[in-house]
Amino acid sequence: MRVTFVTSNASKVAEVRRIFAEYEIPVAWSRRSIPEPQCDRLEEVVEAKLAAAAKPGVGVVVEDSGLFLEDAKGFPGVYSRFAYDTIGLDGVLRLLANRPRGATFRTVAGFRKGRTTLLTVGEVHGTISSRRQGTGGFGYDPIFFPEGSDRTFAEISGPEKDRISHRGRAMRALARKIAALNSKV
Ligand code: IMP
Repeated sequence: MRVTFVTSNASKVAEVRRIFAEYEIPVAWSRRSIPEPQCDRLEEVVEAKLAAAAKPGVGVVVEDSGLFLEDAKGFPGVYSRFAYDTIGLDGVLRLLANRPRGATFRTVAGFRKGRTTLLTVGEVHGTISSRRQGTGGFGYDPIFFPEGSDRTFAEISGPEKDRISHRGRAMRALARKIAALNSKV
């Protein structure tokens, strides 16, 4: 089954295409941003995106991700895009000056085709660096060290990020479930 990933983010498409290729699931890209309702949880955002993106006969994939800072009670979390667009990476670094730097990246991924809906979650724990490091990736990648690594997500290759990242974990779980559906029909 081919799926259509609805997102405006080309970097996410590259990651999802690589991951779904391991399960032989081709990914078409519908390049648009779906308006996000104000919600407290990534799961609610994904449910709303699925409702907005669903199309008869099409296997639609959406996702929403956030960075949860332990010292800031999980902020920016579901508001990560807003924080990135307003205070930016430097603002986040300032927020954590001389503070504990633990953080979790979380992705909720969703699939809908007809009456079948699948949701999966992926997380990676890590720490926020004290300055930007690396030029790869996107978003918060230059300030996030995944647990056990001395390189940020912006300093490792895409496939390396996929193996351990929040999106890698959520999307592999989703691809496995979609592949299982495929084998039933
Ligand atoms: P959204 O899922 O596109 O709403 O992401 C929220 C914010 O987190 C945006 O500013 C993204 O750039 C950022 N973000 C999402 N996924 C990642 C990632 O894998 N690495 C770094 N930043 C990310």
